Amino acid sequence: MEIVKFNLKDKNELLELDKECFGVGCWDNELWQSILEDLEHNIIYLVKQNTELIAYLMIYNWGKERNYVKITNMGTKSSFRGQKLAHKLFETMLSEMKKEGMRDFRGETRVTNYPMQKVFNDFDFKNVETLEGYYDNPTEDALRYHLSI
Ligand SMILES: CC(C)(COP(=O)(O)OP(=O)(O)OC[C@H]1O[C@@H](n2cnc3c(N)ncnc32)[C@H](O)[C@@H]1OP(=O)(O)O)[C@@H](O)C(=O)NCCC(=O)NCCS
Repeated sequence: MEIVKFNLKDKNELLELDKECFGVGCWDNELWQSILEDLEHNIIYLVKQNTELIAYLMIYNWGKERNYVKITNMGTKSSFRGQKLAHKLFETMLSEMKKEGMRDFRGETRVTNYPMQKVFNDFDFKNVETLEGYYDNPTEDALRYHLSI
């Protein structure tokens, strides 16, 4: 198992995995296209086992412009869940972003997404607010998390 950065040749496998993780709520091709055109801010970490993509974490690094990192997307193949892959991805991302001088991290998740809440809590993110009706498909509130280090 290794954690590597996204390369354009990973695109199809990444979009497939995104679809498996989010179903009808997954991002459409247009949004993916704009994300993949800006890989300077959109940083994508992949977990690969042999050559198979099994998990990913995406962030938007605002750098000096806004001084925070936004966690934008994350998913683990269903057959590999509960094996700490999300934790490993967070560890790698946080350590790399710290080296770049980033100190503020933000993200949100559905109020019913207990595995994701566990990941945020384990890395000392604080739940700072609840956003009513933030998500569609199905409509649901979000918990917003911040970490300052
Ligand atoms: C959220 C997600 C990325 C987590 O990935 P993962 O690789 O399975 O995560 P990890 O194994 O590192 O950690 C998940 C934790 O949640 C815990 N967990 C699982 N189900 C749980 C539940 N119902 N209640 C509370 N905790 C739960 C696990 O035990 C684990 O904690 P532990 O390592 O202390 O045991 C994965 O579930 C996923 O892809 N979900 C669908 C897409 C999604 O929701 N992405 C996040 C959008 S913000």
